[in-house]
Amino acid sequence: MAEKSKVLVIGVATYIGKFMVEASARSGHPTFALVGPSAPSDLVLSFESLGVYVVQGDENDLEALLNAIKQVDVVISTVGTALQVQYKIVTAIKAAGNIKRFLPSEFGKDVDHGHALELEKNLYAAFYAMIRHLVEAEGIPYTYVAFNFFAGRYLSSLAQPEATVPPRDKVVILGDGNAKVVFNKEDDICTYTIKAVDDPRTLNKTLYIRPPANTYSMNDLVSLWEGKIGKTLERIYIPEEQVLKDIEEAEFPNNMLMTISHAVFVRGDQTNFEIEPSSGVEASELYPDVKYTTVDEYLDQFV
Ligand SMILES: *[C@@H]1O[C@H](CO)[C@@H](O)[C@H](O)[C@H]1NC(C)=O
Repeated sequence: MAEKSKVLVIGVATYIGKFMVEASARSGHPTFALVGPSAPSDLVLSFESLGVYVVQGDENDLEALLNAIKQVDVVISTVGTALQVQYKIVTAIKAAGNIKRFLPSEFGKDVDHGHALELEKNLYAAFYAMIRHLVEAEGIPYTYVAFNFFAGRYLSSLAQPEATVPPRDKVVILGDGNAKVVFNKEDDICTYTIKAVDDPRTLNKTLYIRPPANTYSMNDLVSLWEGKIGKTLERIYIPEEQVLKDIEEAEFPNNMLMTISHAVFVRGDQTNFEIEPSSGVEASELYPDVKYTTVDEYLDQFV
């Protein structure tokens, strides 16, 4: 069996970054984490206890990036909205010349399949498309990961802003509630991502994490929850025109989050297209051995 690639995670301070480091270490890949000067010491200790090589360095510093990248085979960026950092990572990968696979941070979205509003297009989608273009122009082998919604953010609240547990009296639903949305547990997202790094089937492709049991319309999701708690919730539907008006009136960054919600919950952007086999693969089909946590199982903890 081929040796497992050395994996570097850049962006450990973001929501998903820590999960990615843990999943890589768990899977037996020699794992490196670029850790900046302001990182909390308990984070560093938790990485070290997993056998992770902690590389000290500021992710904004090209030299630090280059030093870290030269030690590994695969780079996973989880920098989220730190757009300049992502740009520097590509520059450093190009200069280093040793990277077998790059997985850029795309915020869970697949930029080629979006109908998001202009606002989001301007601020993020254009940038991610530019990064893709750059990666491909520089001849860097890549895997893009469209991991869709984090369960911890969107499922645990049934997509109610501010909520931390699923509501028990009423629920606000954007649009008609029929668009299909994908909720994945953070650990599973990272498990699939790490499986993809050495897989020739994911080379230069998008890995879509869309397990069938995690794909629900809001209407069906609310019914599932109602069945678990034995109670009917009041459903408040917000028509699309109202959603659009609310976005226009909101301030940054709320308008950004609302724009993503509009694209996903009203338009169904996570699921309203077929995966094109020449450019994409679905994770649960590719890795049927992964026992992912289903939406149904995930909600049980809140009953
Ligand atoms: C993968 O894509 C890069 C461009 O991003 C390209 O240079 C490389 O030849 C491709 N590899 C294969 C095996 O197609």
